[in-house]
Amino acid sequence: MRREITISADACKRCGRCARVCPSAVFTQEKGEKPVVRKTKNCIQCGHCVDVCEAFAIQHSDFPSKHIHRVQKELIPSPESLMELMKSRRSNRTITPKTIPSEALSDIIESAYVAPTAENSRKVSVTVLRGKDIQEVEDATMKFFLRLASVLMSPILRPLTRLFLRDLYNEAAELYRFERKWREGKRPCTCNGTILVAFSTPKGYDFGWQDCNLAYQNASLMAEAHGVSQVYMGLVQTACKFMGRKKTVRLLHLPKNHKLYALMSLGIPDFYYPNYSDKPKNPHQNEISTSTFDTSL
Ligand SMILES: Cc1cc2nc3c(=O)[nH]c(=O)nc-3n(C[C@H](O)[C@H](O)[C@H](O)COP(=O)(O)O)c2cc1C
Repeated sequence: MRREITISADACKRCGRCARVCPSAVFTQEKGEKPVVRKTKNCIQCGHCVDVCEAFAIQHSDFPSKHIHRVQKELIPSPESLMELMKSRRSNRTITPKTIPSEALSDIIESAYVAPTAENSRKVSVTVLRGKDIQEVEDATMKFFLRLASVLMSPILRPLTRLFLRDLYNEAAELYRFERKWREGKRPCTCNGTILVAFSTPKGYDFGWQDCNLAYQNASLMAEAHGVSQVYMGLVQTACKFMGRKKTVRLLHLPKNHKLYALMSLGIPDFYYPNYSDKPKNPHQNEISTSTFDTSL
């Protein structure tokens, strides 16, 4: 469908905000005049023009009027409530087999899809896995790490691993603990999540990592707001990296030609944490605050 953008002369207040906010110079405006649509083909469908217009004067074929909403300011969390959510969120691994309510899951997915993407390219795909698909991810991850350990911890390589791959060597004990749980029928690598959510973009897209992890963060805060546990699946992602892209696509049922950039385990926790503790200090924290808040700059 051909894109059409028009400005209603009657409704337009000539404030020129559409021309100011458009990142692709679709509009031009002579001082005090009604803005003019010049380069429709430049439009990246970001929707800034329709969202900034107090008078709803812009008709944009990609954003029919029923898709434009007045911001409900009273629903925006205050800085205090947002900070409380961010400080109190935890990777709560006490996940139970209870079903995640469907409204919570659809909010989590929607929040991922509304995250910003580079050039508004909207290439992120959110794939939801359940049941035996999660078990397959768990098994593939566990088997990958056990194979890796059987090589690195073999009698010949063990002394070298201890010397040169100290972190991996130390993590071997943790791995064998995971193996015991796995053999008991638990899913330690995927934290017993009842849903796995994979974030991917087409391979070769330059901002896959950034877009997927922004989507992840939206989804994780939404999960938290619904009282749903979420844990970042770094271990599974490491295994997937070694398995290769095509095997990962099959394992996680990603769209063909996609690449995985983030993976989340979700579930209803057994209990919630009543407290939150201050995070250990980040050594860069002071540097950042000094330069950010230096009013002499
Ligand atoms: C990139 C990344 C990878 C992670 N991978 C795992 C993982 O594989 N398994 C797990 O249980 N937790 C994983 N986590 C969760 C961290 O261990 C957790 O965020 C950290 O311990 C701080 O705890 P908090 O999230 O409760 O604040 C990961 C977190 C991040 C950011």
